Amino acid sequence: MADSVLALAEHPPEHPTERKKLYKAAQKLMFSVESTYELEHRVYYGGILLYVANVAIDLGIFKALADTHSSGLSAHELAKAVCGEELLVSRITRGLAAYGLVDINPSGLYTANANTHRFTDPGVESGVHHNVLNMFPAIHSLPQWLRTHDMQSPTDVHDTAFQLGFNTKDEPFTWFAAHPENLQAGAAFMSAQRADQKGWIEDDTIFPSQDLTLSPTDLAANRVLFIDIGGGVGHQSIALRTHRPNLQGRILLQDLPHTLALADTTRLLALDIETMSYDCHTPQPIAGAKAYYMRNVLHDWTDSIALTFLRNQRSAMADDSVLIIDEMVVKDPGSTWQQVNIDIAMMAAMGSLERTEAQWRALLGDFRGAGLIA
Ligand SMILES: C[S@@+](CC[C@H](N)C(=O)[O-])C[C@H]1O[C@@H](n2cnc3c(N)ncnc32)[C@H](O)[C@@H]1O
Repeated sequence: MADSVLALAEHPPEHPTERKKLYKAAQKLMFSVESTYELEHRVYYGGILLYVANVAIDLGIFKALADTHSSGLSAHELAKAVCGEELLVSRITRGLAAYGLVDINPSGLYTANANTHRFTDPGVESGVHHNVLNMFPAIHSLPQWLRTHDMQSPTDVHDTAFQLGFNTKDEPFTWFAAHPENLQAGAAFMSAQRADQKGWIEDDTIFPSQDLTLSPTDLAANRVLFIDIGGGVGHQSIALRTHRPNLQGRILLQDLPHTLALADTTRLLALDIETMSYDCHTPQPIAGAKAYYMRNVLHDWTDSIALTFLRNQRSAMADDSVLIIDEMVVKDPGSTWQQVNIDIAMMAAMGSLERTEAQWRALLGDFRGAGLIA
């Protein structure tokens, strides 16, 4: 039996649906065959891989293996290639091999696999840095924070595990403004995450361009086509310009000033994307745009603040404006572990949550009558 599983591992199916099915089945298989010892290790040390990956990135191990033309490198050769201490390089690399991020061949030499190459991608590096720098200090403090708060879910962004973990009174986005390394890591990760997934911008069938197209009168009046609210460094605005060249009209990227300062303004200008400082706690200053867009903004906030953000957009919307909310909908029951990861990270860092369909409907209940999409 094990041989046929191993044979499948050597030649996994190419089709994404088949792969996903197999992944779920393999996970179920792992849960059902693991010993209590293995189970306990999975739980106790589940966070270690992130830190091993971080050290490996800092040492340059992924890049060295990905770039090598030989049939593999010993720990000694790898340490020389990255100019690192051999003992450290060897312990970190065998950790990577144990978790499948690099391969080890029968002669005991390390080789790059597809995961190794993936971890040379700056976007993936940013994910590791963002989680180590910005998320795990808060997640680490979550049990203690909950114990001192009657085991009640957080409701105030100024009183969450983030403040405990970072020893601050500020909410995260204010704190980031004074901590450039953390801000940079967060912004880089925001543009990289989901970058390899086909979203509504790339897939015209999810939200057809015709529903957003401005009329000649709108264009003559210089009506704004799309406002990317809390859009970070503008990756979604760039994606819209690039993937929907047929959609004419002004595109406006709005975010807090310290986030906008990280954007590549030359690239944005070249694509005719405007930028504007805007705080969602205040009314939207651009009235009558065709589309108001929020991706991964509302998940940062508890319902009361998310409602304020929504109301601040509604006051600016014309009858034919649309609000596009691009967010995860948590499956409950039956959430994936990826959904759980982000939900718990949101609880720790922002006192907020990833919402189920029912929670989204409850939040947006007020707005459906106004023509907003739920
Ligand atoms: C999780 S990131 C999402 C970024 C981008 N929309 C995306 O999907 O990749 C949240 C964004 O909201 C911005 N933000 C936080 N508080 C804000 C506020 N009060 N007003 C406007 N933007 C805010 C942050 O600077 C950050 O860029």
